[in-house]
Amino acid sequence: MSRKKENKLSFVGKGIERVDADIKLEGKALYGDDLDFAKMLYGVCLRSPYPKARIKKIDFSEAQKDPDFVKLITAKDIPGSNKWPVVNDDYPFLAWDIAEFHSQAVAILVAKNRFKANELSKKVKIEYEELDFIDDIHKSITKKENIFSSYVIKKGDAFNEIKKCKYVIEKEFTTNYQVHCYLEPQVATGVFATDGTLAVYSSTQCPFYVLDAVCAITGLSSNKVKIIQTVTGGGFGGKEDVPALVGAHAALASFITKSPVRICYDREEDFRSMSKRHPSYSKVTYGADENGKLKCCIVKYILDAGAYSTLSPIVLWRGTVHAAGPYSIDNVYVESYAVKTNKVPCGAFRGFGQPQISFAQESLIDDLAEKIGMDPIDFRLKNIIDKNKLTSTSQKIKDSIGLKELIEIVRKKSDWDKRKNLKPSANNKRRGLGCSIAYYGVGLGAKGRYLDRAGAYINIYRDATVNITVGNTEMGQGALTVLTQIAAETLNCPINNIKLDEVDTSKVPDSGPTVASRTTVMSGNAIIEAAKPLRERIFKTALKILGSKDMIAKDGFFISGAKKISFNEVVKQCWADRLKMSEQGWYVSPPTTYDLKDGKGDAYIVYSYSANIADVEVDIETGFLDVKKIYSAFDVGKVVNPVLALGQAHGGILQGMSWAVYENLVIDRGVMKNPGFTDYIVATSCDTPEYDVSFVEKDYAEGPYKAKGMGELPLIAVAGAVRNAVKNACGVEMDSVPMIPEKILKKMGRI
Ligand code: MTE
Ligand code: MOS
Repeated sequence: MSRKKENKLSFVGKGIERVDADIKLEGKALYGDDLDFAKMLYGVCLRSPYPKARIKKIDFSEAQKDPDFVKLITAKDIPGSNKWPVVNDDYPFLAWDIAEFHSQAVAILVAKNRFKANELSKKVKIEYEELDFIDDIHKSITKKENIFSSYVIKKGDAFNEIKKCKYVIEKEFTTNYQVHCYLEPQVATGVFATDGTLAVYSSTQCPFYVLDAVCAITGLSSNKVKIIQTVTGGGFGGKEDVPALVGAHAALASFITKSPVRICYDREEDFRSMSKRHPSYSKVTYGADENGKLKCCIVKYILDAGAYSTLSPIVLWRGTVHAAGPYSIDNVYVESYAVKTNKVPCGAFRGFGQPQISFAQESLIDDLAEKIGMDPIDFRLKNIIDKNKLTSTSQKIKDSIGLKELIEIVRKKSDWDKRKNLKPSANNKRRGLGCSIAYYGVGLGAKGRYLDRAGAYINIYRDATVNITVGNTEMGQGALTVLTQIAAETLNCPINNIKLDEVDTSKVPDSGPTVASRTTVMSGNAIIEAAKPLRERIFKTALKILGSKDMIAKDGFFISGAKKISFNEVVKQCWADRLKMSEQGWYVSPPTTYDLKDGKGDAYIVYSYSANIADVEVDIETGFLDVKKIYSAFDVGKVVNPVLALGQAHGGILQGMSWAVYENLVIDRGVMKNPGFTDYIVATSCDTPEYDVSFVEKDYAEGPYKAKGMGELPLIAVAGAVRNAVKNACGVEMDSVPMIPEKILKKMGRI
């Protein structure tokens, strides 16, 4: 049955080549710093050298003497508001009295060229008064005013139930920062025109966030500003909120100088001032009965938000909802906090607050299985959520869940039952396997429901080529290709006829951010909405030309008996008949019912799932951890493009492994010590483990061609699987990410 259905699809489900492959491979794509404008000036930010300081005086008289100096802009020059609109609007575009973290922007120097902008910025003297700062969440949380946001989930009576449990386990876990390490640093260009309009070219995931920020700082109305997304060289969440800050600075500088102004960060500036994955602390307790049934879960989860709240309230919420793991547990209590420290503000990073708590919770599930004397996979299988079961927020899983099959697949593929007790492979080498599972709420969910809508515009030209405008962005994940496939399928139009553009906020309605793996579902459905009436006209016209009542539409052709006509021919006739060949689509996500008071209700519209087994080798002499292979299986609904999906899986797994094993940002007394690729170690293509990736496609009825979302999922539970494999290999129970050699040796008692 499902096979027959699949055969009907011409473009969806096929591993077609990326539509943006050529321009990127050949170096022809126009990234943010590739665009040229006549008389363009360059801006550079002057930044606080202290974790917390009062700005006393700015003296730029020296810089001003240079003929290439154009302007020094401070908070006083802002014509609009000095509040960056994010969630709580507490972050000023430019610090005006107190700078709250090292490298916060205090002023913008504009000069005639990039070199001079940097040179002159060093000649500006800013007098500061150093103030006391807080860099520790446990100290910070004792003061109520330092808590940016906090949530609670109450299901059943966890504190009473825990007393009755035969097996109880409780541990604390910590995780460090993760830096996005996108290849293209932050960049934006403001282009103010004589007619009073302002265009901003921005490397961003979220052009509409940039629009809001540019309007706020300049005071211009939305219809006088347009944000044009430039080809974006990676985001991973790091181009969600902060490009709005960079774009607003460039816009302000252009608005004031009446010239185009480019701001392009160097790597160190990007490291020091842009968002990161939140460091975390968590304390997790699980309780099970004598039969190995999970009865309760208690979690305290704290994120180190940094100096301003930015996206922390939303990141924390996703972590909170998923904190108990993909298990059916009657008694759950979760409390969570995002806490201020005088360090760089943290924000979105692939997984959005889930990987940190998944590491803790999946580690502890493994340790609990051991305590009970059960195989960790059997223990998981006994307790996972499934159809008609309730999540920790009491959301009933109605359909589209393949978690059980995923676990069985990785168990079989890794030969778990035979290999889980591996023998040492050399005197100093120990091999081990470890498991983890995850669920992932697709889209913004209840907390961001007001933003969960998307628009699309389709215009079919007389030559039968098609232009499509959407509000979600391509940042490497393959959105342009996947959305092209969805449009091609709905219109029965050849792939090569279609061109999807980078987002221009003046051409499409606000479609929310490109985050939360929501693009395929949201923009995909918006495209289908726009394409439906066009499809009807095209198909009717094809029937008319074929002179038939019945036809097959396939691969861009319309076939009836021996007669076959192409999409191009049909469109030509549509235009000759003066039919409307452009349409707009609008999709709104299904309702959610979550109540913030007690954390009850439907938190997300649907979930995607993963099961993972890591195969690792630990050198017990050096503590070096080598991740040999990762087996992962995913249920992301219908896979729209299997090749791109595999790419997302490989990339996500590697990024998760990198966070788990290598990435160690050091901030000492508020100052970053390794802000660059020399000293901040990130996994490269030389460090890739072997991958074994499988997909189970559980249809999601509301999804475009039954697809869910997958962009972030592959990263989420990697650290837990690696940690459990380390335990299996050499008996140490790691409780902290990254699992660098020093920490492993320390746990072994060797140093
Ligand atoms: N893949 C690549 N190559 N580059 C990226 O920046 N971002 C990730 C993921 N995969 C990213 C990526 C993040 S954080 C998200 S939210 C999703 O892609 C967004 O894409 P989607 O909405 O199309 O799933
Ligand atoms: Mo992804 S962290 O939701 O941009």
